[in-house]
Amino acid sequence: MPIPKAELHLHIEGTLEPELALRLAERNGVTLPYADVAGLRAAYRFDDLQSFLDLYYRLMDVLRTEQDFTDLADAYLARAREQGVRHAEIFFDPQAHTARGVAFDTVLAGLSAALDSSEERYGITTGLILCFLRDRPEEEALATLEEAKPHLDRITAVGLDSAEVGNPPSKFARAYERASELGLHLVAHAGEEGPPEYVREALDVLHVERIDHGIRSLEDPELVARLVAERIPLTVCPFSNVRLRCVDTLADHPLRRMLDAGLLATVNSDDPAYFGGYVDENLTDTAAVLGLTDDQVRTLARNSFEAAFLDDATRARYL
Ligand code: ADE
Ligand code: ZN
Repeated sequence: MPIPKAELHLHIEGTLEPELALRLAERNGVTLPYADVAGLRAAYRFDDLQSFLDLYYRLMDVLRTEQDFTDLADAYLARAREQGVRHAEIFFDPQAHTARGVAFDTVLAGLSAALDSSEERYGITTGLILCFLRDRPEEEALATLEEAKPHLDRITAVGLDSAEVGNPPSKFARAYERASELGLHLVAHAGEEGPPEYVREALDVLHVERIDHGIRSLEDPELVARLVAERIPLTVCPFSNVRLRCVDTLADHPLRRMLDAGLLATVNSDDPAYFGGYVDENLTDTAAVLGLTDDQVRTLARNSFEAAFLDDATRARYL
């Protein structure tokens, strides 16, 4: 039985398995340039973050109706249960949907329909993290936040994702300030492909509480010391880092060095349909390849609950 854990870095659109993508394409009359599951899987070869994002945004065009988003989230939750996930904080990319004519309310209602009964059906508590697309203007992020306002009871945090290099965190200073005023938690992708300076900016300008990825922080010892001292969680995604060529092979992954440095690292799956495994595979394969001790694996699982946006009573239940 997989070790109980929280998943804190999971893009719901990145859980779109080829089988479901093809089924939704047919249901919605969307033509994809792939004949079958094998043809689609063959396209899952990436040179970097951008080459992945190109396919990720293209494939999500099959998501059109409220029911599509419910089916997507439901399929993830069923798998997450098998992976030992007890709590999931799930990213979604509203702008990737509103830009192609799918309403914010359709996305949120669809996801909520699955998430609202998740605890009862799967024993998984959930939160939603609204991500701003960092390669789009800040005005669009602010408009998205406005659209989210009637639904803040359903949204735990804001995040920042998409193409990192050339889109520093400081570009979103006003959007994060507004999100903070609205009482939302704050996280951001930083230090995935981008430099350690982006991690510093996420902390100093956006005032984030967690860093998503953050692996390039290791290039800056002073930054590492700060992350350790302030106990800033890093949501690390080993399979993603290898598939997107941020790291050469799993054996080269810095996770063990991160733990040895005293960083509050957690293991997550990012976009599991695209990167070859869900969260427990990320944890067990990486642990095996890097020779992590049982104690280190338990620490990673404990870190995931510690880093989660849970109230003390719920956290105590998991720890
Ligand atoms: N969107 C989905 N997955 C992502 C990742 N790994 N980095 C940035 N944006 C993303
Ligand atoms: Zn991510």
